Amino acid sequence: MIIPPGAPWPAVDEYYEDVFGAFDPVLEKVLKSARDAGLPNIAVSPLQGKFLKMLVEMSGAKRVLEIGTLAGYSAIWMARGLPEGGELVTLEIEESYAALARENIKAAGLKNVEVITGAALETMKNLPGAFDFIFIDADKLSNSMYLAQALKLSKAGTWIFADNVVRDGAILDPNSKNEGAVGIRHFNEMIAMEPRLEATAIQTVGAKGYDGFSLIRVKS
Ligand code: SAH
Ligand code: DHB
Ligand code: MG
Repeated sequence: MIIPPGAPWPAVDEYYEDVFGAFDPVLEKVLKSARDAGLPNIAVSPLQGKFLKMLVEMSGAKRVLEIGTLAGYSAIWMARGLPEGGELVTLEIEESYAALARENIKAAGLKNVEVITGAALETMKNLPGAFDFIFIDADKLSNSMYLAQALKLSKAGTWIFADNVVRDGAILDPNSKNEGAVGIRHFNEMIAMEPRLEATAIQTVGAKGYDGFSLIRVKS
């Protein structure tokens, strides 16, 4: 995502990471492992990871599902918000990313996190429901299909959280060729048409540029 020249966003993220202590040696090693292995630099930011952990805590979720693991960065943050006996399942299509994530999760000392390899639309079919909290953060073009599957794995009260719903504002253009924008607009239309869902969106700026999150509640 684009950061305009002179924008204080990255420095403000650094300031808040520093003053609120989002820095964590285990998680820094996860980011380094991803860089060293040549993975794309698209994990949530440290402050966003901490926000996810706190959302898991706030919701009281015991079973969390993540779609899109990468190196396990956001999975480790969320797993840290789980209560005793809680568990997190995370889905990743790339074998090598999943293998790295498993290593990172082990190094973080977490035993309640399972990384499942395969195309999420397939692997979701075999998952036992229901989940209390579902983080959608994989290929954006499939978001509406992830939502359809997520609803099958939900119960009344499940929270769904989606990353990358703004994309520098590209989602405003209904004729956009940007896969992210097309996928998110379709996802949003599906949310709007589903009476079981209540949703809001928050635009964000920071170290990752200009993007946003949606928070969706399964009401019934
Ligand atoms: N949640 C991670 C970032 C995920 S990046 C974090 O913040 O740390 C998106 C991930 O989704 C990539 O690792 C990509 O390989 C994965 N992905 C893409 N298409 C997928 C699919 N069809 N099924 C499962 N994972 C997929
Ligand atoms: C991309 C994917 C993400 O999940 C993200 O947070 C940022 C960028 C991407 O595919 O470009
Ligand atoms: Mg993302």
